[in-house]
Amino acid sequence: MNGEAASLRIRGSEIELCVRAATLGQDVLDVGKLVASDVFTFDPGFVSTAACTSALTYIDGDAGILLHRGYRIEDLAAESNQLEVAYLLLTGELPTASEFEAFRHSVLAAQAVPAGLYDVCRALPADAHPMAVLNTLSAALAAFEDLAMDMADETARREVAIKLIAKMPTLVAMALRHQAGKPLTEPEPNLDYTANFLAMVLGNTPDAVVVDAMERILVLHADHEQNASTSTVRLSGSTGTNPYAAVSAGIGALWGPSHGGANEAVLAMLEEVGDAEHIDAFLARAQDPDDPFKLMGFGHRIYKNYDPRAAILRASCHEVLESLGTVNSPLLRLAQALEKRALEDDYFVRRKLFPNVDFYSGIILRAIGIPSSAFTTIFALGRIVGWVAQWNEMHRETLKIGRPRQLYLGPGPRAFVAMPDRA
Ligand code: ACO
Repeated sequence: MNGEAASLRIRGSEIELCVRAATLGQDVLDVGKLVASDVFTFDPGFVSTAACTSALTYIDGDAGILLHRGYRIEDLAAESNQLEVAYLLLTGELPTASEFEAFRHSVLAAQAVPAGLYDVCRALPADAHPMAVLNTLSAALAAFEDLAMDMADETARREVAIKLIAKMPTLVAMALRHQAGKPLTEPEPNLDYTANFLAMVLGNTPDAVVVDAMERILVLHADHEQNASTSTVRLSGSTGTNPYAAVSAGIGALWGPSHGGANEAVLAMLEEVGDAEHIDAFLARAQDPDDPFKLMGFGHRIYKNYDPRAAILRASCHEVLESLGTVNSPLLRLAQALEKRALEDDYFVRRKLFPNVDFYSGIILRAIGIPSSAFTTIFALGRIVGWVAQWNEMHRETLKIGRPRQLYLGPGPRAFVAMPDRA
């Protein structure tokens, strides 16, 4: 119930707090008043902390449910496309045909990037990691844009959101072409959003099966409430910084192997496992507390059930590989055998560790022709929609800078010792 009273007894006095009710899922205890009592909450990793309100995405991790603006991810993946999901996340509603056409047109018209960005890209080392290239290009975009915008202006925010959704495929394609040592490409105005991206990457008009597979991957990565990269975008955006800088911060956070970097790590792991007969040895390593190895693509902070996105990609993997004539891919067989063994293993069962979205996405991306070191750039391409939608939502409210506190465990005040007198 909203406003339900709660109390906290500390050092002999009682602090009155209140509960704020969610429309779905966990209610929260509003601890904002605690600071007046000279005490903070302590929650490393934010396991029990809601940092904001949001109406974009809902996850029920126990039931394996993911909703965007109330719509099931299974329906969106089957019936919708990335631009429609972008419209939905930004505005709250599915578009009518004319609304969609206008939105699609404004995105497609904004896909080109300044010529100077191509020079920036060419100046980077040929063997640079594609995420380093993407991060550089997205940050450099700010250097070419007019940054004087009123963040409180809904129309200005929508324009910049469209710009970022439009330009991200071009930037990712540049990163991939640079990695492949191929001439950089430009968007083709007659192609749709996802087909255009693939055409820029592959250098030719892609097959419909490949476009469909990529579309599904983008939709499945569009948003995932307050994950590490989105929280990074919100935190940096809370300073009032420009959205290009905020998105670059998010790309940096996404890169880590505990987050978006896991899709690259899954393929490396499957290649290292090599054969089903080595699975048990890898599962044993994953359970060894003295070994830092983790089963990549397994486990999730919120899902304690099958990640619904992984379930969709698992099925999609079969369809895509079948259409491409590679359904007997040894990699897919190995991934399925690994999943089966892990899901029967007491260690994974007790900890409720299931495949996450990264477990099967890499197999599809590889079949499409994306090199594994570039997988995380595809995650970023999908997630740009969530980043800008969350940034936009944050700016609807009075902006409060995100500024966590700490439990200080360092030394107390002490006298400075001149260098010659130090032991
Ligand atoms: N392999 C082996 N053990 C695991 C794994 C795994 N993949 N994931 C979690 N565990 C174990 C932990 O060691 C811990 O065991 P303990 O209770 O004996 O200490 C227990 O399960 C709980 O795990 P935590 O690390 O506390 O879970 P947390 O929510 O902090 O981490 C994370 C979630 C980072 C996703 C973790 O499961 C992981 O590292 N997985 C592998 C990397 C990965 O796939 N990342 C992608 C995440 S999804 C995304 O960003 C798209």
